[in-house]
Amino acid sequence: MPQTHPLDNLIDNNRRWSLARQEADPGFFQRLTRQQAPEYLWIGCADSRVPANEIVALDPGELFVHRNVANVVVHTDLNCLSVLQYAVDVLKVKHVIVVGHYGCGGVQAALTNQKLGLINNWLRHVQDVSNKYAPSLAAEPEGAARVDRLCELNVIEQVVNVAQTTVVESAWARGQEVTIHGWIYSLNNGLVNDLRVDIADPDLIDSTRDHAVQRLGRAD
Ligand code: CO
Repeated sequence: MPQTHPLDNLIDNNRRWSLARQEADPGFFQRLTRQQAPEYLWIGCADSRVPANEIVALDPGELFVHRNVANVVVHTDLNCLSVLQYAVDVLKVKHVIVVGHYGCGGVQAALTNQKLGLINNWLRHVQDVSNKYAPSLAAEPEGAARVDRLCELNVIEQVVNVAQTTVVESAWARGQEVTIHGWIYSLNNGLVNDLRVDIADPDLIDSTRDHAVQRLGRAD
């Protein structure tokens, strides 16, 4: 009996992928070893159903990615901040996109106060968003609609958090062009909904956030 390993199928997939890539574009990997020059930083949820590159059809080398549960940006999270700093200061990405998704389990757990262990400490940040917008959330029907509204509000608030990091503040102060955006992805149809919370100027953070929040739930 040949020895099999539980990850053999993944290694086989990888071999095929590498071969197909090289057949389609013989210089592909050689080019990537020389440099990466992505224009975008994606900050998304760790959810397995939201694969960053695939959703926007970008190749390796084109998208810098940070993912965590419920796409949260916290000012003391050295992991996320290091990714952001490297992306902005060194790679000089032009766009940072916070990408949430409807039906996010992390957001749902935060809203319903599910006790899941250590993760509750992380999701506390989403509960802060929930508390901030308690009246408008209460106006949504309990269940999926309310979770989805909090998914949207969470993206908007995390966009503001990105815009208020020392990394982005410093970049803007020295005249570097970087725009922060907020999207939300639908698991139902694979489509991204732009929450139109694009921020490229520290003076427009509050007004952009307020407009984006007011626009939620309106078809325009
Ligand atoms: Co999620």
